[in-house]
Amino acid sequence: MATIQLKTKIPGPNSKALGDRRTAAIPRGLSQGTPIYLARAEGAVLEDVDGNRYIDFAGGIGCLNTGHRAPGVVAAIQKQLEKFLHVCVQVTGYESYVRLAERLNEVTPGNFPKKTLFLNTGAEAVENAVKIARAATGRPGIIAFEDAFHGRTMMALSLTSKTHPYKAGFHPFPGEVYRIPYAYCYRCSYSLKYPSCDLYCARHLEDTFKRVVAQEGVAAVIAEPVLGEGGFVAPPLDYFRTLIDLCHKHGVLFIADEVQSGFGRTGALFASERYGIEPDIIVTAKSIGGGLPLAAITGRTEIMDAPGPGGLGGTFAGNPAACEAALAVLDIFQKQDLLSRANELGDHFQKRAREWQKRWPMIGNVRGLGAMQALELVQSQEIREPAAQEVKEITQYCYEHGLITISAGSYGNVIRLLMPLVITDEQFDEGLDVLEGGLKSVYERKHEAAAQPV
Ligand SMILES: Cc1ncc(COP(=O)(O)O)c(C=O)c1O
Repeated sequence: MATIQLKTKIPGPNSKALGDRRTAAIPRGLSQGTPIYLARAEGAVLEDVDGNRYIDFAGGIGCLNTGHRAPGVVAAIQKQLEKFLHVCVQVTGYESYVRLAERLNEVTPGNFPKKTLFLNTGAEAVENAVKIARAATGRPGIIAFEDAFHGRTMMALSLTSKTHPYKAGFHPFPGEVYRIPYAYCYRCSYSLKYPSCDLYCARHLEDTFKRVVAQEGVAAVIAEPVLGEGGFVAPPLDYFRTLIDLCHKHGVLFIADEVQSGFGRTGALFASERYGIEPDIIVTAKSIGGGLPLAAITGRTEIMDAPGPGGLGGTFAGNPAACEAALAVLDIFQKQDLLSRANELGDHFQKRAREWQKRWPMIGNVRGLGAMQALELVQSQEIREPAAQEVKEITQYCYEHGLITISAGSYGNVIRLLMPLVITDEQFDEGLDVLEGGLKSVYERKHEAAAQPV
């Protein structure tokens, strides 16, 4: 039986009324990708306030790899609610904070002593990773990448790349941030081709130390192992090893921001594992909390211990219900083998998407790692001019037909898949059928318009 059920035109009257109230009550700076308001969610299915049911390919922007209201997560939270809700770990401790830190120290890549600190959000964790890296090295500089997204607080925003809508109008940002091109092979900044490029972009870090910022002034390089908001770009598998070797040669730390690529999305708990790398610091958030706000920084013991007592923390950071939820998330990954599932979903998407690409040349690039998959849309395969308007139209077609998708990319021309990994085969295909319908409809409309006599 079909999961998608549309009882009204989208948005329905109740969503529409809430939308009007929102416009009056909430600043426009907080955007919303669809005009839909939710009543409930389960697994990979959403139901809105008008009784319409959708398949969810957004997962709260990558926060629900284990699904909406995963039974183990809900049970763990409920159990905690019976005990205590908040005490602040800086005043009195609780076991779940310690146990979760121990488990993250175990499951993160790298067979060396580690420690973990909890925060509330990805941006807050990134900020603290910078503090820790600076304290550990005694150096100020941070090198970040073009197309990177690290959050919306001031330091995180300084590291984030995209200008509109994220940075424009919010200057000045904290200093000592330097930016270099990412290994975005489809749009190589050096117009080279992998593998004949011999990873020029990674090796170019050496040049950056000569021409942009001296290595002895750099605390860390921070990178997403797969770009999230930047468009799900997965560099060649040997890229990060080359980059990290150069960092370590110069005493520079490597921070992996796994906020979006982490917690099973790429078919490994951390995308770093797919590259065979052991970052000095790993930042996690989003899906770690199974739907509750939680973020973590895990790193080498000697680095994590660099800030003195009182230098790190936050009132709500590592909330007890969120820690219990994260422990349940880790159990679910073990019990349900969601990592294999991530790879299955990714393979299935790739098969269907490659067929679409043969039919509709506006699909310039099909890419991804595990279930972190995307389509990059272009005006033509040759010129590769971004097709952002088409992505907007497809996103709208999708939600009007029962599928929630979100876009990405510095040019807004990427459709990304962040469905819960617990999605069933039938639901996944039903969602992909809608996406296929959206691609077809927008492609045909565009070509009919082009064929009209003037
Ligand atoms: C890679 C990455 N880092 C950091 C963040 C910021 O996380 P948060 O929105 O929880 O502050 C995001 C959010 O999308 C992200 O994708």
